[in-house]
Amino acid sequence: MKLGFIGTGALTSAIVTGLKSAADNSVPVLLSPRNEEIAAGLALRYPDVRVAPDNQAVLDSCDTVMLAVRPQIARDVLSGLQFRRDHHVVSLIATLSREEIAALVAPAEQVTKALPMPMIAHRQGATIICPPNRRTSAFFGRLGKVIEVEDPSEFDALSVVTATFASYFKYLDTIHGWLKEHGVADARAHDYIATIFKALANAPETAPDTGFMDLAEDYATRGGINEQVVRELTARNVFAAFAESLDGVLRRISAGAAPRTGPPS
Ligand SMILES: NC(=O)c1ccc[n+]([C@@H]2O[C@H](COP(=O)([O-])OP(=O)(O)OC[C@H]3O[C@@H](n4cnc5c(N)ncnc54)[C@H](OP(=O)(O)O)[C@@H]3O)[C@@H](O)[C@H]2O)c1
Repeated sequence: MKLGFIGTGALTSAIVTGLKSAADNSVPVLLSPRNEEIAAGLALRYPDVRVAPDNQAVLDSCDTVMLAVRPQIARDVLSGLQFRRDHHVVSLIATLSREEIAALVAPAEQVTKALPMPMIAHRQGATIICPPNRRTSAFFGRLGKVIEVEDPSEFDALSVVTATFASYFKYLDTIHGWLKEHGVADARAHDYIATIFKALANAPETAPDTGFMDLAEDYATRGGINEQVVRELTARNVFAAFAESLDGVLRRISAGAAPRTGPPS
């Protein structure tokens, strides 16, 4: 595989970093020159990562091309490039449909959508792939879990999960702030929350057949303090409002109107 990237930003940097930390990391990488600083930094760090003079040079030298520009400029950038029939194009632009991308990269015949997350830099997390593709799965499988889906609407629904990361940290920050207000030292509060939530995050994987609500109930002793918080938040429609926000994100993603996806949004 000769791997090229059109768009060298946060996500490309994370993928290349994850790739080059893997045991079998011999895939040579050619980066488009923007962002200049990120591309130069990666090329400096890894001997088989180079920066091409322009986007077309990436295509001309590579068989697999990952598209990692922001959705707003994707049409302009891609329509100016000459793709080959034998290019395998992997679009990371979650909000543009596979059909739209396929039209922009014609005559390339193999077009796959993939949704990795920035934690791929540490070879953690999961990449959603649609439609299933052996080579794309093998590539991302070295960098974390791969979830292949046939149905684009399932891909869109799964991608809504990535809109919840900031709320998750806001939730932890609420607990942190509350602890500080109640006299707990900043670092101690942070350490306690980070350790406890890391352990909680392990629970679904260690008990894959246990539903999330079953896990919740394991902690929600009748009349206990966990039950109290769930009951009070439920009564205030906090969870219903959260689900409504997910509906809104899905509408935005499905309409292709989201300015960008993922945690940095
Ligand atoms: N970050 C995430 O967590 C995440 C997760 C899933 C999917 N995605 C998707 O992945 C794509 C990239 O996201 P990102 O977070 O990596 O965005 P980003 O950090 O903004 O990177 C985009 C890169 O594209 C470059 N660029 C601008 N114009 C270009 C051109 N004409 N030709 C080539 N490159 C050009 C930019 O360079 P300059 O800095 O020089 O403008 C920038 O480095 C987006 O479509 C996003 O929706 C991102």
